[in-house]
Amino acid sequence: TKFTSDRLLLFGATGDLSRRMLLPSLCALDAEGLLDPQIEIIGTARSDLDDQGFRNFARESLEQFLPANRRGGMATFLNRLSYQSLDANNPSGFDALASKVGTPKEGLSIFLSTAPSLFEPTIRGLASSGLAGDRVRIGLEKPLGINLASSKVINDAVSGAFPEDRIYRIDHYLGKETVQNLLALRFANLMFEPLWNAAHIDHVQITVSETVGLESRVAYYDDSGALRDMVQNHMLQLLALVAMEPPVSYDATNVRDEKVKVLRSLRPVKTGETVTGQYRAGAIGGQAVPGYDDELGKDSDTETFVAIKAHIDNWRWQGVPFYLRTGKRLPRRTTEIIVQFRSVPHSIFPGRSAKMAPNRLVIGIQPSENITLSLMAKVPGLDRDGIALRSIPLEISMADAFAGPQRRIAYERLLLDLIEGDQTLFVRRDEVEAQWEWIDAIRAGWEEQQLEPKTYTAGSWGPSAAIALAERDGVTWHE
Ligand code: BG6
Repeated sequence: TKFTSDRLLLFGATGDLSRRMLLPSLCALDAEGLLDPQIEIIGTARSDLDDQGFRNFARESLEQFLPANRRGGMATFLNRLSYQSLDANNPSGFDALASKVGTPKEGLSIFLSTAPSLFEPTIRGLASSGLAGDRVRIGLEKPLGINLASSKVINDAVSGAFPEDRIYRIDHYLGKETVQNLLALRFANLMFEPLWNAAHIDHVQITVSETVGLESRVAYYDDSGALRDMVQNHMLQLLALVAMEPPVSYDATNVRDEKVKVLRSLRPVKTGETVTGQYRAGAIGGQAVPGYDDELGKDSDTETFVAIKAHIDNWRWQGVPFYLRTGKRLPRRTTEIIVQFRSVPHSIFPGRSAKMAPNRLVIGIQPSENITLSLMAKVPGLDRDGIALRSIPLEISMADAFAGPQRRIAYERLLLDLIEGDQTLFVRRDEVEAQWEWIDAIRAGWEEQQLEPKTYTAGSWGPSAAIALAERDGVTWHE
């Protein structure tokens, strides 16, 4: 059923995500007239605030996290906000929440960005207080569990109160323009798709590197680690978008059907095809940074880096490795996808100066959004001993190509889709479960072999074993 929402209920309204992303996104959407003009936004959390207190909190968040040129509608937006404090573990509070929400004219969207341990009691409270009716959608922020079993418990609890077509599981990478642009690149152009297979592609690399360390999420991160924090969700979604078959059309069912087929084709990984690491003190951009143990204040076996050689067992990708790596405290913040083509079958250019480099497509997701295709070209000159060749880049900067449109927060797209009811950029239950199944098997292998993360110096590209993982196949990580 298609309906829009004129009420939005935010759980975890005073949390970090709300401050940095959700409130700024909503304010920006509102200022552009993209939300229902009557929309009311009700925040809830444990903190003891009243409406005015929450509005103050929101104002400070907007001033900090929304660029000044996008804050035009702030006063109107703040007036839409109200607040009800709630302990989700105490069922009696939900009736007061329900009366604060009132009766929407069109529909209600609910967004849960709380600790996952609160998901179940929250859903129960919503159901018993009449907040889980027909014209209600629910958005769930990660982490959706810590393994397949716990994610099933959450999914079961949610599906007890909401049908799948009103459940919106967030992976904020899907809200990024450049991630959506992967689909445009692949399926709105003729040139790539005929080559997009094992016959022409040697391997694929996906790197998500961060310079930050633990930040303020100490307990969460130390329980999670890089594999569950980044690979289970964001990196597997990127992999699925790169590897999937053309969907019948760009809609929620067709796109997600194709992604889940890729996820189900992932071959269980051997422990020897993974590398884990944990950073030690070092320096990033000339700044000294402490080691993970120091930041944490205790010893830990949690991995802050992981590299994996993945395989997709289907016709298109047989024999094409997908090298994945992600880590904290690496030299640069970057997310990029490298599609390495095979060599030409035969070189007609003799001579030393005609060394061929295979074509390579580099898709920069962030921070710079660009697409670079390396091509072989003749070096100008009157060469005596044959044509001299060199690899040169054909480069598109998205920022230059689209100078006009506003750069948006990924959550603007996702919140708008939740409010209006478009699931294309949300993760379906079968996807999450296929992701966890693959991740759980990796973790089981680590546990069986009692693998401990190797150390790496903050500011390096991870343990040397990660370089070796690619190099033993003759592959160099793109830098
Ligand atoms: C989150 C992870 O999902 O993604 C964080 O929990 C990580 O650890 C973040 O820093 C990265 O997101 P982005 O959009 O900055 O690449």
